[in-house]
Amino acid sequence: MSPYKTVESEDKSTDVVWHQASVSHQARVAANGHQGAVLWFTGLSGSGKSTVANAVDRMLHDIGAKTYVLDGDNVRHGLNGDLGFSDSDRIENIRRIGEVSKLFVDAGLLVSTAFISPFAADRTMVRALLGDKQFIEVFVDTPLEVCEQRDPKGLYKKARAGEIKHFTGIDSAYDVPVSPEVHVKTANQDVQQCALQVIEYLRAEGIIPQS
Ligand code: ADX
Repeated sequence: MSPYKTVESEDKSTDVVWHQASVSHQARVAANGHQGAVLWFTGLSGSGKSTVANAVDRMLHDIGAKTYVLDGDNVRHGLNGDLGFSDSDRIENIRRIGEVSKLFVDAGLLVSTAFISPFAADRTMVRALLGDKQFIEVFVDTPLEVCEQRDPKGLYKKARAGEIKHFTGIDSAYDVPVSPEVHVKTANQDVQQCALQVIEYLRAEGIIPQS
């Protein structure tokens, strides 16, 4: 059985046909003046994913790009409010975000996602949903010791005390990205430097204009 919480096949309608949009993706990209892509920030809790993603979003917005940020802690209040932190729930969390991101990319946006997304297989699955240069993996590489020291929400303390189970880095795995498009190290660089590294990648790849 698929690990995904999709409806069982007998419940699925066979009468759903894809409707062609009257405004094409290319027309949206041309109007926006940049490509559509997902900037997939991955890293431990407290690594700085949301902080760097929001700094990138601000820089992109300031040059007139059409952007949005999807953040794990926020999306888990709404769309994914029914999901916890078991392996299968995390897989479903990422699957749904992957599909939502794909819609944003189709709309021609630069969407930044900030989810731990601990399993390499799920990140690969989202990459496969998207086209060439549309999935940009940004590894927010912050050592566990640093995340634990920062502990902005006090969750590591609780996890060490056994009050939170399946906490990433403590008693739940994190697969380190093998060849991310961008690799930022928040322990050595400040937020602006990390964000600029992402912006420079987008320029070099022609996803946003040179200046
Ligand atoms: S993911 O693993 O499914 O990608 P996601 O990024 O959506 O995780 O949510 C992680 C956030 O949920 C963390 O930043 C933290 O604030 C909170 N959280 C609560 N319980 C856990 C847990 N067991 N493991 C990791 N994060 C948790």
